[in-house]
Amino acid sequence: MTTKERNSDSDHDDPDRSRRKWMVGGGVAAAGMLLSGVAQAQKSPGGAAAMDGLPVPVPPADKTAGPIVAGRDSRLQGRVAVVTGAARGIGRAIAVEFAANGADVIALDISGPVSTASDAAPATPQELAETVSMIQAYGRRAEGIRADVRDPGALRAAANRIEQRYGKIDIVVANAAIQYWKPLLDLQDTEWTDVIDNNLNGTANTIRAFAPMMVKRNYGRIIVVSSMQGRHGTKDAASYAASKWGIFGLMKSAALELGRYNITVNAVVPGLVATALTLYEKRLTESVGETGYKPNGFLTPQEAWDRRAATMPLGVGWVQPEDISPAAVYLASDAAAMVTGSEIEVTGGDSAKSL
Ligand SMILES: NC(=O)c1ccc[n+]([C@@H]2O[C@H](COP(=O)([O-])OP(=O)(O)OC[C@H]3O[C@@H](n4cnc5c(N)ncnc54)[C@H](O)[C@@H]3O)[C@@H](O)[C@H]2O)c1
Repeated sequence: MTTKERNSDSDHDDPDRSRRKWMVGGGVAAAGMLLSGVAQAQKSPGGAAAMDGLPVPVPPADKTAGPIVAGRDSRLQGRVAVVTGAARGIGRAIAVEFAANGADVIALDISGPVSTASDAAPATPQELAETVSMIQAYGRRAEGIRADVRDPGALRAAANRIEQRYGKIDIVVANAAIQYWKPLLDLQDTEWTDVIDNNLNGTANTIRAFAPMMVKRNYGRIIVVSSMQGRHGTKDAASYAASKWGIFGLMKSAALELGRYNITVNAVVPGLVATALTLYEKRLTESVGETGYKPNGFLTPQEAWDRRAATMPLGVGWVQPEDISPAAVYLASDAAAMVTGSEIEVTGGDSAKSL
């Protein structure tokens, strides 16, 4: 292996080091730009380094996505990530895709019943263990932690343990949630509060427990998971829709507060995804109801797919968890260094129908 190859490998394992090196080069190039526009054009193809003969300020290394490098939007080598609700579904896909791109991943999940105000079957400890094996299959360190995101003390204890064991926490994904379908006026009081407590308070608890570790190091990536049901009203699922609208307000407020610590806070916004949260007849019936279709008796998954696909720009009835996870990888990467307070929708085309 040549020295050049060795350097490039070690940079690959240490994104911070690679960025620091570029900024040193970039600063030199910016000064050089005053003498030679061609030299700067090669260093920073998109940037203007001088205006009317005056140098234009160059951001410090931690305030830019850095140079154009193939794959920088997915490189997570050396990062330590925590993903809540990772026993299955979208959380598992994000955890495994983080590992596939080089991160060590801690999968946190209750792996058991959450509330009677939840239509999906509970996740199991076996599913959590499977997620851990999938992460390890990529050669990354991994562990599963059984904890409830409604319990701030349990999250803080988990954060302390992870920091001790792994030395830091770079990325946290607040993904755990439940969903409940019942008309607003039929809801029991606890059915309303349970969904809000789990989804909205649970997301806030996650940020509040893990962000202090990021503040200490002046670096962090926080990703929350909202929903297209947080973009419009949802008939018979008001508590879920309200919790997901609330997550946008939480995300944007946290982005305002934490930017000064070089911590980004963004939302991934899925459309309908094939997971245990949604794949049961009542939910699919509701989803085709949006198209005006009334099933004649039991609604088969194929019928639901066909009805929805006919209305979707990309011709799918719903998307897969693995369609969502690349958006989380991008937001966690250095390429997204200047992205905060934002949302990325992955919907198969539902997004084209809303603001
Ligand atoms: N599936 C969809 O169509 C869809 C669409 C939009 C948004 N989302 C969102 O994506 C995220 C993941 O959903 P999914 O479809 O993968 O659901 P899922 O039910 O398959 O997975 C959710 C996981 O969260 C865990 N969880 C729930 N409450 C918890 C708690 N209090 N503490 C710890 N863990 C808890 C569950 O045990 C489960 O493993 C959720 O935020 C959901 O609202 C899903």
